[in-house]
Parts: sequence; structure tokens; C-alpha cells
Amino acid sequence: MPKHPVLVVALAAAVVIAAAPTLLSQPMPPAPQAAPAPAAPAVPAVPYPMTMGDMMNTLVQPRHAKLGLAGQAQNWPLAGYAVAEIRQVFAGIAKALPKYRGYPVSELADAALSQPLNALQDAIRLQDPQKFAVAYGQLTQGCNACHAALFHSFVVIKAPDAAAFPDQKFAPGQ
Ligand code: HEC
Repeated sequence: MPKHPVLVVALAAAVVIAAAPTLLSQPMPPAPQAAPAPAAPAVPAVPYPMTMGDMMNTLVQPRHAKLGLAGQAQNWPLAGYAVAEIRQVFAGIAKALPKYRGYPVSELADAALSQPLNALQDAIRLQDPQKFAVAYGQLTQGCNACHAALFHSFVVIKAPDAAAFPDQKFAPGQ
């Protein structure tokens, strides 16, 4: 071991400098690759089940309003179509959600709506605005009777006093 510390440093420097060209002319080993991030576990898409409130809000309420608007405009074909849509929607709701908090939806809907829907069909067939208004009032009472029976008496339905569908014509004719 050389005794002089300065000499030791000089020798070490000389080795590094001598080695530098060799080191630089060598292809550099590839930089260690960062391990690929583990793929995030796939989150499966979960279908969104419609609640009773969702179905009421999206399927039932607009049809009830459209039926009222069509009847007020004496647009009998459109009113007849809305009645059929309401029947169909409730049939679908009863299948999608047979029980609401343990209560049978199909039976409750029948009890609340069957008679008024039949009366509406008669009024539409007769093209009778008075009969239509009475039957529409009964239908609306049916909606509210079921709401009261199923703990939602605060959801109060009424005949529409304004059209919420600016892109649909309710007056009869093309
Ligand atoms: C079978 C019983 C039943 C009948 C019949 C019924 N409803 Fe409902 N409705 C419910 C229940 C139960 C709720 C509350 C659902 C919840 O939020 O859990 C509800 C809620 C609603 C809501 C509130 C939804 C919201 O998000 O604001 C509207 C609007 C509504 N109903 C409209 C109607 C109309 C219009 C009719 C009549 C054509 C009708 N419903 C008939 C049971 C019924």
C-alpha cells in the first residue's frame, strides 16, 4: 500500500480516467426496467337495478302527464296510446319488482288503477272530454291512494297544469 495519501488519490484517479474511454465505448447495459405496474383488477360492470322511485319518476310520471295533456287537447289517438303505455308500464313494474316492502305491487296497482284506466278507455272511445276529465281524476286519485298505502302520502300527483314536453305536440293533427 503506498504510504503517501496524495499518491493514492492520484493513482485512483488515473485508473478511472484510463478506464473511461473503454467504459464509454462499451454498449451500456440496458437500464433496469421498472417492473410494469400490476394491471388494476378489472371491476365488473354492475347493472343498475331500477328502484320503485326510479320507475315512477322515469316511466310512470311522464306517461300520466302526457295522458292528461293529450286529453286536455282532445287528442284521442294520443290519449289512447298513453293509456296503453301506462298499462304496459305497470305490468312491467310488477314483474321487475313484485313486492315493495313486502306488499304485492301487482294487486295494489290493479286495485288503484284498473277501474280508472277502463273508464279512460271508454271516454276516449266516446271522445268525451267530460268523461275523460272525471276518469283522469280517478286515475290520479288511484296514484295517490297507492302512495298513501305504501308510506308515500307526501308524493301527491295532480293533473298537469303545464306541459313539460316542449318538443311534443299535444294538439290533434299532424
Ligand atoms: C303500486 C302502487 C303505486 C301506484 C299504483 C302508483 N305509485 Fe307512484 N309510487 C309508489 C311508491 C311505493 C313510490 C315511492 C317509491 C320509493 O321512492 O321508494 C312512488 C313514487 C312515485 C313518484 C315519486 C318519484 C320521484 O322520484 O319523485 C312519482 C312521481 C309517482 N310515484 C308517480 C305515480 C303516478 C303518476 C301514478 C299513477 C299513474 C303512480 N305513481 C301510481 C307506488 C305506486
